[in-house]
Amino acid sequence: MSSVTIVGSQWGDEGKGKIVDWLASQADVVVRFQGGHNAGHTLVINGQNYKLSLLPSGVVRKKISIIGNGVVVDPQALLNEIVRFKEKNIEITPDILKIAENCPLILPSHVVLDQAREKVRGNHKIGTTGRGIGPTYEDKVARRAIRLCDLTEPETLTWRLDELLAHHNALLASLGEKIFTKDEILEYLKRVAVKVLPFMAPVSELMAGYLKSNKFILFEGAQAIMLDVDHGTYPFVTSSNTVPSQTGIGSGTGPKSGGYILGIAKAYTTRVGAGPFPTELFDETGKHLGEKGYEFGTVTGRPRRCGWFDAVLVRHAVQVGGLNGLALMKLDVLDSLKEIKICVGYKLDGKKIEHFPYTLEAQKRLEPIYETIPGWNEKTYGIRSKENLPIAARNYIERIETLTGVKVVVISTSPEREDTILSENFLAKC
Ligand code: IMP
Repeated sequence: MSSVTIVGSQWGDEGKGKIVDWLASQADVVVRFQGGHNAGHTLVINGQNYKLSLLPSGVVRKKISIIGNGVVVDPQALLNEIVRFKEKNIEITPDILKIAENCPLILPSHVVLDQAREKVRGNHKIGTTGRGIGPTYEDKVARRAIRLCDLTEPETLTWRLDELLAHHNALLASLGEKIFTKDEILEYLKRVAVKVLPFMAPVSELMAGYLKSNKFILFEGAQAIMLDVDHGTYPFVTSSNTVPSQTGIGSGTGPKSGGYILGIAKAYTTRVGAGPFPTELFDETGKHLGEKGYEFGTVTGRPRRCGWFDAVLVRHAVQVGGLNGLALMKLDVLDSLKEIKICVGYKLDGKKIEHFPYTLEAQKRLEPIYETIPGWNEKTYGIRSKENLPIAARNYIERIETLTGVKVVVISTSPEREDTILSENFLAKC
């Protein structure tokens, strides 16, 4: 078996797009296994930017691209994304893109529900992307969701929709929102079905074949481990399991299909949306990281919150995600800092702790314990070998390895694919 799984090991936006593209160029098959179009990957290829939300990154390089059953699919958003790629001369055909029959669909009522709920949450809002992700996962677990394959059976679709709308409309009415009629949803689904159904495929069957014939498979995680619905900063998380254990469930393969597990971490930390963030900076350094790192959400354009690297949090990700190695991104953003801090533990109510607590109030009260190391104060931007990195930068990386318990096998020094240092050939272990 030869596969690799890429997951974010902080709160998302670690720069997965670059690594995923770098690996996608070598992979035969690229698979999304959770999330939806709340994800935002930016690929920079020959100076051209490609923004992906729902589509697997493989589409840009014409690799077989799978949307597994663990993904929630908004049909209209999918079609819009396909059109955006066509405008960039990338034609996405059913030979390339294959969507699992059992993917739950995001309907217009899910989007309204997501946004209406956020409104009433007031000070406690999660800061969702407002794209209907949470309500769709809820319906999946409650056995109410409409799945892609339901579009092929008009009778099934009708009674399933009755059940779903009875639930949605009761909620919408209680939130003071407009309710949906069955006809308007049916009409919408009929319109999109013609264009989306050609992409429907027996994904688990196909995956079994790819695995058997030893194709190189890249599992492309979206969001990140700290946004995992079980292991993240609940309830300020997304609604799917983002941990690598989800690869098998979300693509219809077994528990061992994920291969080598590479966690992506930024050389500092960022977060979009609400929720605890112990190492967040509210000063000039935080502003500097945001500006130099161009920290604005790909999907919503919101400025990201910025802070120091939190080794406790990444160690948690290593443990719950079973990570085999890390890719350290955006090292160059730290270039001009005189000193750099790493969070090595927390103080909670005066006591030292070295793990990330699950209780929300405790998470809010955490005071980071920092280790301060000298900055390198020189340019690492575009450096392509570890030996050419300043000694202080190499020390910083080594410290991260010791604190997180895994090797940094990839170092990224610019958005360009070529500016990537492979410090250990992890591909040999895939
Ligand atoms: P939802 O996934 O839209 O329900 O949003 C839940 C939380 O996950 C919010 O804090 C979002 O900002 C965050 N989130 C969702 N997708 C991403 C992503 O791709 N990158 C970073 N944060 C995300």
